[in-house]
Amino acid sequence: MGQLKLSTDLWSSQTVFILAAVGSAVGLGNLWKFPYITGENGGGAFVLVYLACVLLIGIPVLMSEIALGRAGKANPVQAMSNLARENGASRLWALLGLNGVLAGALILSFYTVIAGWAVSYFFQSFSGAFVDMNASEANSHFDALMANPYELLFWHTVMSLVTILIVSKGVKAGLERAINLMLPALLLILLVLLGYATTTGAFGKSFNFLFAADFSKLTWESVLIAMGHAFFTLSIGLGTMMVYGSYLSQKSSIVKASLWIAFADTAIALIAGLVIFSIVFSNGLEAGSGPGLLFETLPVAFGQMAGGWFFGTLFFALVVMAALSSAISLIEPVVSWFDQNWGIKREKAVWILGTLIWVFGIGTVLSFNVWQDVHFLGEKTFFGTVDYLTSNIMLPLGGLLMAVFMAWVMTKEQIKTQIDLSSGWMKWFILDLKWLSPIAVLVVSSSGLVASESVLIMVAISLFLYGAYVWNVTRKN
Ligand code: PHE
Repeated sequence: MGQLKLSTDLWSSQTVFILAAVGSAVGLGNLWKFPYITGENGGGAFVLVYLACVLLIGIPVLMSEIALGRAGKANPVQAMSNLARENGASRLWALLGLNGVLAGALILSFYTVIAGWAVSYFFQSFSGAFVDMNASEANSHFDALMANPYELLFWHTVMSLVTILIVSKGVKAGLERAINLMLPALLLILLVLLGYATTTGAFGKSFNFLFAADFSKLTWESVLIAMGHAFFTLSIGLGTMMVYGSYLSQKSSIVKASLWIAFADTAIALIAGLVIFSIVFSNGLEAGSGPGLLFETLPVAFGQMAGGWFFGTLFFALVVMAALSSAISLIEPVVSWFDQNWGIKREKAVWILGTLIWVFGIGTVLSFNVWQDVHFLGEKTFFGTVDYLTSNIMLPLGGLLMAVFMAWVMTKEQIKTQIDLSSGWMKWFILDLKWLSPIAVLVVSSSGLVASESVLIMVAISLFLYGAYVWNVTRKN
């Protein structure tokens, strides 16, 4: 295996790191997933739980994950193993990195499929297909795309290739510049859409739907989905922020960066939600119509508004770019692991992994047509299953273990050199990581899952902790 490599490639500045991390966080999760799961889970109360999770679990775990990466100086598997060794803890902690590496690959397998829909919509919009489109036409347009596995496969392939090409060139060159341009443009166009939303006559209703909490609609499963989404949308729990943190210079402020990432990510999701539900309610559409929501609503807005062709084309281009900057961050943990630990060069690693992930993604392509009626875990399609296992189990579990490692294994001094909080906030931070976040994740996970799954997870966690304990005891003797 040779000498292990460490991450050395530092970001050119703190601002660039923040932009790249925001680029990872802001993606399909904000524009596509947040609105549709909010619609499916009844609105207000769901949003409130999601916001609480971002604040109480998301931000502390985000800070911890970046800190673990910067302190461990390597890909997630190696960083955890480095830190465990330094602190005399079990090397089994490397499994936490492995969980993340695997989750990143699984998420990417459906991410390129959905991003492919946006690529297709970009070309449709450009060709003028959305001009004067009404709600029912938008609906059948989307249904026709879903019914065609070859077309979905084609766009999935395009997206996978672009991701592979960018990552194989190394993160810095093209990416930093693209993100610099993309984020402000995305925000601007969302504000234009927000302006349009206020003219639909359903803006107030949309606002109420998102912010008036009706807890009678909330089930344990929706609490689990809200919590899982907080992890997904902030890109935490799987090691993306850990690798990005491993490229971060010691001088940068992790606290400041994390607050910016969380703020930008949340603001963009909420604006997207306001826009989409204004269109839903003003056109008598179904809030709970599922993964197609973004694609069934926005063409209607672009079809009606002045300059809709221009804004529509630009918007879908930006969705694709936002998805790309997230896609590359999903594959980065596993690529850097291959590169640093297995001596497989970045370029080769990306092609091997990218191809495997692409093949797995075909399952998601088929979920919307040929395999529509093939179900796992109860009612879920192949896509639904991969999404559920990653967002609602693997990421929260990863985040929980990161919080535990940070608060219970790292020393006070180690934490202080990474996290620049005042001593008052530091107390809260550690209290949150030690107790609140882990307990919240455990309670929500075990109540939201069906019994057999939660038992499985409990057994896995217990085995892990027991293994770590035994390792520690035998090592001391
Ligand atoms: N945060 C991204 C989004 O919201 C998805 C993502 C998850 C990216 C985890 C990297 C790691 O679309």
